[in-house]
Amino acid sequence: MELRTVIEERRSIRKFTEQKVERALLEELISESLWAPSAMNRQPWKYVILQDQALKKFMDYSAGTAEYMDTPLEKQNFNEKMRSFVKGYFRDLGGASTAVVCLYQSSVDPVVEHGNLVSGAAAFYNFLLLAHEAGLATCWMTGYLYNKESLSRLLGLEGYGLVGVTPVGLPAQEPPVPPRKPDKVEWRTE
Ligand SMILES: Cc1cc2nc3c(=O)[nH]c(=O)nc-3n(C[C@H](O)[C@H](O)[C@H](O)COP(=O)(O)O)c2cc1C
Repeated sequence: MELRTVIEERRSIRKFTEQKVERALLEELISESLWAPSAMNRQPWKYVILQDQALKKFMDYSAGTAEYMDTPLEKQNFNEKMRSFVKGYFRDLGGASTAVVCLYQSSVDPVVEHGNLVSGAAAFYNFLLLAHEAGLATCWMTGYLYNKESLSRLLGLEGYGLVGVTPVGLPAQEPPVPPRKPDKVEWRTE
């Protein structure tokens, strides 16, 4: 698949088949994603892969987080149907059998903190694209930050911040393509 096709056709998928992703494939994709650039070459990322009992514990936490979503969703003027869809997704992660968590090393220095976060995001986005190319589906999620303390307790995140969580599996839906907004580029010549 051409790179531009991978970029354009990757979608956030919120419904997965029951089929479990092979560990060897996940290892390969994650390892490949680490070719991302990083600030001062610190390579400040860390992945945690959740399956089986670990995923179950995470799902319990995730279901609890659904309640924290009401206010932010209301602020986005989502109607009741949309709110209940998003909350339902937090409850079951679309039926995926694997969740991949991407973290970055936190720093008290705001420049290092920013550099580490965006370096982690570069690696994580690589992973989402590689997964799509391999026929897998993902959905980058950061809504968990509304329930950060519990996440930190559950995963033992001392010294790390969250880049994102994504369920990984085979897609069981083909969602509509959310159009991209215009006027996001400004050219300056003087
Ligand atoms: C940083 C980031 C955080 C996101 N957090 C969530 C989330 O918490 N829950 C969710 O359902 N989708 C989440 N998304 C997915 C976006 O809703 C999705 O990328 C957007 O609607 C565009 O759709 P597309 O990914 O299919 O192009 C997140 C995406 C990004 C990049």
